[in-house]
Amino acid sequence: MQVPKLNKILVTGAQGQLGTVLANLQTQAQALGMQLLLANKNTLDICQAQQITNYLDAHDIAAVINTAAYTQVDQAEANVDLAWQLNAEAPALLAQACQQRHIRLLHLSTDYVFDGSKAQPWSEKDPTEPLNVYGQSKLAGEHAVLAAQPNALIVRSSWLFSQFGNNFLKTMLQLAQHHDTLRIVSDQIGGPTYSPHLAQALLIMLQQSLSPNGLPSGVYHFSGQPYTSWFGFAQEIFLHAQHAGMVSKIPQLLPITSADYHSAGLRPKNSCLSQTKLDLAIGKQENDWRLGLNDSLQIRGSPCFN
Ligand SMILES: NC(=O)c1ccc[n+]([C@@H]2O[C@H](COP(=O)([O-])OP(=O)(O)OC[C@H]3O[C@@H](n4cnc5c(N)ncnc54)[C@H](OP(=O)(O)O)[C@@H]3O)[C@@H](O)[C@H]2O)c1
Repeated sequence: MQVPKLNKILVTGAQGQLGTVLANLQTQAQALGMQLLLANKNTLDICQAQQITNYLDAHDIAAVINTAAYTQVDQAEANVDLAWQLNAEAPALLAQACQQRHIRLLHLSTDYVFDGSKAQPWSEKDPTEPLNVYGQSKLAGEHAVLAAQPNALIVRSSWLFSQFGNNFLKTMLQLAQHHDTLRIVSDQIGGPTYSPHLAQALLIMLQQSLSPNGLPSGVYHFSGQPYTSWFGFAQEIFLHAQHAGMVSKIPQLLPITSADYHSAGLRPKNSCLSQTKLDLAIGKQENDWRLGLNDSLQIRGSPCFN
């Protein structure tokens, strides 16, 4: 019996948080007819056009997921050139190389393209107005990708967490080891997103995009639910962590305003993303971040949390 050929999907930035999560979904990808080829900064530097074309020409790639990015929101205010190079110029190089080879690009973007002024969750049609360098560079990346490849897929997500990489969940658990009191911003709301939920949705999007009927190109939102503030997220983290036996004592959590939290980069007050468009396109996917907290914290004692 002939074994069906798997579509090869290149994952860039494969040692980052989302890239690592995708790497762990190889079995699920294969069940969907795909094989993930994992490239980190050392094996494929997305700022190097020649490296991109060499890689694409050497492997029979069907699609690319670009998770590589400059994601340090506050540091980006000082490292403007680097943020733009990685978040705007490199995605343009990737999109151009993909377009020339008829390879579909799925590019990741952020809730921080919005200014936070809307009362309701943001839809894909809402106007963008980033408040910080990171958001500006990511928005420029969206535009560059769609200019080079009009049928690219852009997926904006928010507040990613998992047991991998740097994220709010891990920061809270680390801070709790040495502090009895934590001051947490309570006037910014958004959707904490469990990275494996996002990764699973990305695979389904790609599978559909490679099928004969395809998936319409353009921008999609994927956000965890329910929306909450960083303060509300922290409360849930410690309740779950205590339940999982990961903290002996919950630190006292003090709600503070954004103005009291002195960060280099401004953040939107409301960065909740409406996911209706994606739900209609691929069907409702799991996105309850409280389930994601349970999952992450079950890996009790994992070195990832130390
Ligand atoms: N994290 C969030 O909360 C969040 C929220 C919304 C959207 N997003 C978006 O989701 C995507 C994935 O985020 P993430 O949290 O997984 O980011 P991440 O953990 O910072 O991973 C990004 C990866 O890109 C790598 N990289 C840096 N320069 C590179 C280059 N020149 N070529 C290839 N790889 C390079 C980084 O390597 P080094 O670490 O070695 O530099 C890192 O492994 C990004 O597009 C991000 O903007 C993230």
